[in-house]
Amino acid sequence: MSLIDTIKNRYSVRSYLDKEVENEKLMQILEAGQYAPSAVNFQSWHFIVIREKENHDKFSAIYHRDWFNKAPIYIVICADHNKSWKRAEDGKDHADIDAAITTDHMTLQATDLGLGTCWVCNFDVQKCRDYFMLPDHIEPIAILSLGYPDHEKQPAKKRNSVDEIVHWEKF
Ligand SMILES: Cc1cc2nc3c(=O)[nH]c(=O)nc-3n(C[C@H](O)[C@H](O)[C@H](O)COP(=O)(O)O)c2cc1C
Repeated sequence: MSLIDTIKNRYSVRSYLDKEVENEKLMQILEAGQYAPSAVNFQSWHFIVIREKENHDKFSAIYHRDWFNKAPIYIVICADHNKSWKRAEDGKDHADIDAAITTDHMTLQATDLGLGTCWVCNFDVQKCRDYFMLPDHIEPIAILSLGYPDHEKQPAKKRNSVDEIVHWEKF
């Protein structure tokens, strides 16, 4: 698949087949995250993988959706605020940006391998913190559900036109 095809084929998968994800594919997805760029190359992220049945069922309570509960794997992308770059001029913490890029790398690698993901940010952050006993400087930013997609439930893509979003030479 060409890169643009992978980008266009990725969608938020909210329906998964009851099919196990091969460990090799999972490792490739994590590797895609590992190779993401980050501000000053500080790599301010941690990935927590949940795939054991017992942990899966307990963890899925942090986001109450039937489809989420049925996803075979979760990858929790955490920002490490002790590692992330803060811009000297205004103190802006780039942890969220680093986390977003690495998460997106993983979604694209998953698509390329025939797998599906959905970003989830609307989860119960405190429950997530408590579940993993995260220290204050580690912030759970996003959860990726991961598994083989049931393409029958694929929604139509909605995107603004290039004309609406691209500004040439001036805003
Ligand atoms: C930062 C971010 C947070 C998101 N949070 C959620 C979420 O909590 N629950 C959910 O079902 N989808 C979530 N999504 C998925 C978006 O709804 C989805 O990407 C958007 O509607 C575009 O659809 P597509 O991914 O199928 O192209 C999130 C996406 C992003 C990028």
